[in-house]
Amino acid sequence: MTAAACSEIERAGGPATGGDPADPVFDPRLLRHAFGRFATGVTVITTRAPDGRSVGMTASSFNTVSLDPPLILWSIRLTTPSLAAFRANSHFAVNVLAAHQEDVCARFARPAEDKFEGLAHRPGLGGAPILDGAITRLQCRVWARYPGGDHEIFVGRVLDVETIEGDPLVFHGGALHHLAPTAALA
Ligand SMILES: Cc1cc2nc3c(=O)[nH]c(=O)nc-3n(C[C@H](O)[C@H](O)[C@H](O)COP(=O)(O)O)c2cc1C
Repeated sequence: MTAAACSEIERAGGPATGGDPADPVFDPRLLRHAFGRFATGVTVITTRAPDGRSVGMTASSFNTVSLDPPLILWSIRLTTPSLAAFRANSHFAVNVLAAHQEDVCARFARPAEDKFEGLAHRPGLGGAPILDGAITRLQCRVWARYPGGDHEIFVGRVLDVETIEGDPLVFHGGALHHLAPTAALA
């Protein structure tokens, strides 16, 4: 999808939502518990704000979408202060955290004046910071943005890929974990 199509989706209020007044309403605690049973990795998604400030936030909503073209997605809560910066920049970077980066996860999970202070990083496309030590770093251009209830969904086209060896940090049941290897699939 092109950037023009992307803004059309935004203007139109998004594709059909499928909402129905008869839909069930769930206790948010139940939903949080149920959704939290799905283990994910942990990422820090970054961009640069129009005033040149580096912006980054911890996100577990990252997932892969497509190999051809290479697409990924993540979602951001509408009340998150960083949202304006992500909307304003055509690029962002996904930094997949290594098992030893619990402190990085915590640092980017709360508002702060300068979350990057003392943290080794370099600017990528659109000025989005690339974090040293992240086991996968994806530099992306915004492909589409979709309304997603109390979140906004960003789909990114991957423009650059870097990986280094290392175990991932894992998020499950509201807590951070390390991998416990089991028998191989094959
Ligand atoms: C493990 C973990 C995963 C998170 N995943 C998301 C996410 O996918 N989307 C989101 O909007 N917030 C997520 N958050 C919360 C944000 O990191 C948090 O709101 C942060 O303060 C946002 O940055 P800002 O306040 O500087 O805008 C997550 C927090 C943690 C600890």
